[in-house]
Amino acid sequence: MARILITSALPYINGIKHLGNLVGSQLPADLFARYMRARGHEVMFICATDEHGTPAELAAAKAGKPVDEYCTEMHEVQSELAQGFKLSFDHFGRSSSPENHQLTQHMAGRLKAAGLIAEVSEKQVYSNADGRFLPDRYIEGTCPNCGYNRARGDQCENCTKQLDPTNLIEPRSAISGSTDLEVRETKHLFLRQREMRDQLRDWIKSKKDWPVLTTSIALKWLDDGDGLQDRGITRDLDWGVAVKDGQNDWPGMEGKVFYVWFDAPIEYIAATAEWAHANNLGDEAWERWWREDKGASDVQYYEFMGKDNVPFHTLSFPATLMGANHDGTEPWKMVDYIKSFNYLNYDGGQFSTSQGRGVFMDMALSILPSDYWRWWLLSHAPESSDSEFTWENFQASVNKDLADVLGNLVSRVTKFCRSKFGEVVPEGGAYGPREEKLIADLTEKLRAYEGFMEAMEVRKSSNELRALWVLGNEYLQEAAPWSTFKTDPEAAAAQVRLALNLIRLYAVISQPFIPDAAQTMMQAMGSDDWSWPTDVAAALATLPAGHAFTTPEVLFAKIADEQREDWQARFSGVRA
Ligand code: 2FM
Ligand code: ZN
Repeated sequence: MARILITSALPYINGIKHLGNLVGSQLPADLFARYMRARGHEVMFICATDEHGTPAELAAAKAGKPVDEYCTEMHEVQSELAQGFKLSFDHFGRSSSPENHQLTQHMAGRLKAAGLIAEVSEKQVYSNADGRFLPDRYIEGTCPNCGYNRARGDQCENCTKQLDPTNLIEPRSAISGSTDLEVRETKHLFLRQREMRDQLRDWIKSKKDWPVLTTSIALKWLDDGDGLQDRGITRDLDWGVAVKDGQNDWPGMEGKVFYVWFDAPIEYIAATAEWAHANNLGDEAWERWWREDKGASDVQYYEFMGKDNVPFHTLSFPATLMGANHDGTEPWKMVDYIKSFNYLNYDGGQFSTSQGRGVFMDMALSILPSDYWRWWLLSHAPESSDSEFTWENFQASVNKDLADVLGNLVSRVTKFCRSKFGEVVPEGGAYGPREEKLIADLTEKLRAYEGFMEAMEVRKSSNELRALWVLGNEYLQEAAPWSTFKTDPEAAAAQVRLALNLIRLYAVISQPFIPDAAQTMMQAMGSDDWSWPTDVAAALATLPAGHAFTTPEVLFAKIADEQREDWQARFSGVRA
């Protein structure tokens, strides 16, 4: 039994996530967590909402709420949606938790002690009316390039030109509209990542099994142009983790907070501490996952994320952890494997949160149960390249894979048995060559499935699972117990006994992909035996003759053309 730590990139707090966000980290991480638990390993699966930074402040202001209240509400909403999608987090934390405040300040103190923090004076725009410094995107004005009058300090939305706030004509505060702005000196902390370049390179190069997508992004940032830049880790904002040196004040940094990308990954660790505290466990309970000197040296740590998150997880977060262990007294657990994803597009364009284009988690659950979405998303995960959601494709895979193949098998077997033998597993004779061939084929495909699941090859896993379902269907088609019954009821009974056992086996192996349907199948088979079918022949003898079962309702309903057209029209957003 291994100890497996799994983290999913933390979703931003500012709004409900779309299916592209979901399939880029949380859902495949859940698939892996469920599989590893099913194989008997000890799993810690962590996620949280990413609550700090400008976007959170802006979203709260737009909602007309204090930012802490907004975050509490949105955390609840995201948490319920995660449950709706059956994401099996051991803890879904909040980066604004006391645990994260404390740990983030602790890490900063450790980096300071290591001499890895530089204090740098910068010039930044200050708004007298708002009484605060304005980050670039909080400043608006007229674009010097195209004359658009709502250009932001970082970029003009109209002509896409990258801007510096000082380029703007008649700059004003995006918060109050005030033009009473001035440039002031302000001090910020920089993480001296350049100092750690060699250490980081050695560490990345030691990861021989990392996918090319991950390593190439990391090495590009490490070696391109000027190479790794020192990085500002503080901001002039109200909302966030106050800048402190451990427990102590940091002179000159009063009123400042850490940059959201500094505290967010630290929340992976802090959320595990939240989990321990929520379960009335002591610090040793979370430390045995995160501290190599306190039991974590045998932990295998996997991170799941979209490709845009890779630089932060291969460079800045590792730099934080390495720096915090500068004197060898705090060996933090570092990631062993990073699984990163490309993007999912929506029906000929991009998913867009701002334009409301695409399917969002709440809308998805309002039209179909989560298993339908989980199956489609995972079997089309954007692994080797970007992939695209279309309603036609969604309809086709649901109808074919889930309804025609898996659902149909369950329904045919249970209904036929009920009508001829009643709702108990029939006795029948021994299995013959056809059954032995099926067992051999299932074993071969199951081993392939296990290999892909272990390697986090999501699409390939789904292909093998589908192939396993198809084998059962083909067997049933050829054995045709409904015909056999007319001439040889004994043989038909044996075929049905095998098929009922196969339904239980499918419940076990399909559970990581479609947990609700798996539960329904298991319950219908009157069993609670979720043990992994290492030995397929033995697994197919689990339900003995005489064992009672029930015939389930339709497992997966087909999607009709009219439904598909209706949804297609409703979710197209406001794209011109
Ligand atoms: O890109 C994002 O959605 C970020 N909120 C991910 C943060 S991952 C982690 F480091 F916290
Ligand atoms: Zn412009």
